[in-house]
Amino acid sequence: MGLSITIASGKGGVGKTILAANLGAAIAGFGKDVTVLDADIEMANLELHFGLEGMKTTLYDVLRNKADIKDAIYKGPGGVKVVPSGISLYKLRKAELAKLKDILEELLKGTEVLLIDAPPGIGGDVVAVLAAGQELLLVVTPEFASIPGALKTKEVAKKLGTHVLGVVVNRAGHDESDLKVEEIETILGLKVLGAVPEDPEVRRSVGAGQPIVLRSPDSPAALAIKKLAAELIGVKYTPPAPKSLLRFFKR
Ligand SMILES: Nc1ncnc2c1ncn2[C@@H]1O[C@H](COP(=O)(O)OP(=O)(O)OP(=O)(O)O)[C@@H](O)[C@H]1O
Ligand SMILES: [Mg+2]
Repeated sequence: MGLSITIASGKGGVGKTILAANLGAAIAGFGKDVTVLDADIEMANLELHFGLEGMKTTLYDVLRNKADIKDAIYKGPGGVKVVPSGISLYKLRKAELAKLKDILEELLKGTEVLLIDAPPGIGGDVVAVLAAGQELLLVVTPEFASIPGALKTKEVAKKLGTHVLGVVVNRAGHDESDLKVEEIETILGLKVLGAVPEDPEVRRSVGAGQPIVLRSPDSPAALAIKKLAAELIGVKYTPPAPKSLLRFFKR
């Protein structure tokens, strides 16, 4: 049985989908069988990060008993497996959302690592996602506005018995007013497992429909994501020295 990690935040737009897609691509790069599942049923967009579009069968069909989960798994770049969500105006019922746990268990029979991209907020859809995953990775940005959502998500996860792995700080290091690692750890009562810098390559990669770890593997954000991915799965990885340092040694 594989390991499932839900990537959630409470606050929207902090980088859950970027991290899910890129941790997936990075973990595949370390030779693991990895599946990334889009659990953001109302605003599905994970597949765009992999340059996949217009897939016929989605998680939405599976939750409504219209398809088997095996038919909703697609091969993405770098060997990562992707389960798209399917955008719909139809709100899933509680009973349909409750099926998620069985679907994840089914997926875990055929993959070593399952990453689940959660929707923002803390509504019924998020609770169902948190209840279905084994582990939770919380994403924040280094600003106070992202903290209350993370705290609420942590509390809900605790009530559901979902283990919280820790926190990833995304878009770090571009402002002096940034919260510091120790401040985030103290407020949330959780360990910061990694930090991903603000990096213009992230937006370019999203536009190109390719994970940054594949498109710009030596960019600062890609290196940080690969480091975090290695830590999550217990693989040894030492990122190469920054290019500026290599040039320095050549002189
Ligand atoms: N490290 C980064 N550097 C620069 N831009 C970033 C970084 N991380 C995220 N972004 C920008 O933020 C946008 C939102 O990221 P993403 O879609 O992953 O957030 P999200 O938490 O999944 O949002 P939602 O809550 O709506 O699902 C990206 O499209 C990108 O433009
Ligand atoms: Mg998202």
